[in-house]
Amino acid sequence: TRSIRPLVAGNWKMNGLKADLAIAAQAAKGYDTALKQAVDLAICPPATLLFAASAALIGARIATGGQDCSTQDSGAFTGETSAAMLADAGADFCIVGHSERRTLHGETNATVKAKAEAAQKALLVPIVCVGETRDEREAGKALAIVKKQLRGSVPDGSTGATLVVAYEPVWAIGTGLTPTAADVAEMHAAIRTELGRLLGKAEAAGVRLLYGGSVKPANAAELMNVAHVDGALVGGASLKAEDFLAIARAC
Ligand code: G3P
Repeated sequence: TRSIRPLVAGNWKMNGLKADLAIAAQAAKGYDTALKQAVDLAICPPATLLFAASAALIGARIATGGQDCSTQDSGAFTGETSAAMLADAGADFCIVGHSERRTLHGETNATVKAKAEAAQKALLVPIVCVGETRDEREAGKALAIVKKQLRGSVPDGSTGATLVVAYEPVWAIGTGLTPTAADVAEMHAAIRTELGRLLGKAEAAGVRLLYGGSVKPANAAELMNVAHVDGALVGGASLKAEDFLAIARAC
């Protein structure tokens, strides 16, 4: 039995046109009473679909989220989307510091922290992503890297109600590779401990720690049963409603 209500969040990344709202509608249909009792669901579509997806999912009590937000409130920042805009479009969550943002857009821990703070200010719950590269894991530095990312990226004063953390080993994203259950257990326990240092033990105990990276229906049960794994951040498999729901059922 879990002490924290699990969350399964789908990160659609840069995929999804209006027609793909049918995936969200299908997920809503399959989110039956039994699943609703057991697990929270969220879909993070591209920003262009957020308003429509939120409207389509609210009746089914499936949350939505942005995939990134600006560090700034408003103003002359062409191309940026503020956290308040995401909230206004119906979002509940915002992914920040995804490895694709850290790598392709040079986001540092400080940037990620500023985005997480901006999200909290707009009453969105940031899903702060952390995770080591393959080289870092092979060098035995995975735990140290992730702890450093947490220290740099998690807003002070976050609570179980205002923060979600996602552990996504970079080498497991979109590759079909996953860490062993033992490696996930070691990392998630270390994340809980580090959050305890940063936020206090009581608050850290309530923060949902998601695992992300090649989560599929076939491996979800094993990964979701690891101690301190409170759900999943799902990329590719979230684009198929059946797979997304099967992962939710595995919680
Ligand atoms: O944010 C989720 C993502 O990075 C994992 O992607 O496709 O490996 O599930 P995927």
